[in-house]
Amino acid sequence: MKITTFNHKYFISLLNEDKIGVDLTLGKGSDTLFLANHLKKVYAFDIQKEAIAISSKKLSDHDNVIFILDDHANIKEYVKEKIDIVFFNSGYLPNSQSPLITKASSSLKALSDAYDLLNDGGYLSIALYKGHEGGLKEAIAIKDRIKDLNIIETYKEHKSLLEPELFIIKK
Ligand SMILES: C[S@@+](CC[C@H](N)C(=O)[O-])C[C@H]1O[C@@H](n2cnc3c(N)ncnc32)[C@H](O)[C@@H]1O
Repeated sequence: MKITTFNHKYFISLLNEDKIGVDLTLGKGSDTLFLANHLKKVYAFDIQKEAIAISSKKLSDHDNVIFILDDHANIKEYVKEKIDIVFFNSGYLPNSQSPLITKASSSLKALSDAYDLLNDGGYLSIALYKGHEGGLKEAIAIKDRIKDLNIIETYKEHKSLLEPELFIIKK
């Protein structure tokens, strides 16, 4: 099972329409769509116009998503309320020519500020892809930063070093 499938299956029973989510890496909008189908409101960040364009079309029948074209490291400039669930996927916009990928420094700031905004009992889900340039380094930095948090689930499709890896943290 892919890590995104595992992630959605894991969360389906934990979401409800009283809760607020943040997708730190909108991409093509699959995670945001999943969250928007089950939550009251979702803030969705991406630094690429292409991601916002593709995803806002995909979610055109949803009025509970706030699309933010900015670095997720600036989350606190946009999210001024407590949140219940955060999704983060490292890497690049699938099938795009763009070289833009997540980078350790902004990812760490975004994850730390998002964790700060989480309600007690809230969840942070982190999917780490390692095959792209700098991906392994970013994954190592993030794993080191979260190692003392309350990691309640991990999942990897296979055991090899470069396989994507999922971490679910409960605050
Ligand atoms: C692996 S994709 C996300 C996949 C997405 N969750 C989905 O369901 O399709 C990673 C996305 O993060 C975006 N990204 C990279 N660095 C970012 C940053 N500093 N702030 C916000 N988004 C960023 C990329 O543009 C890319 O679209």
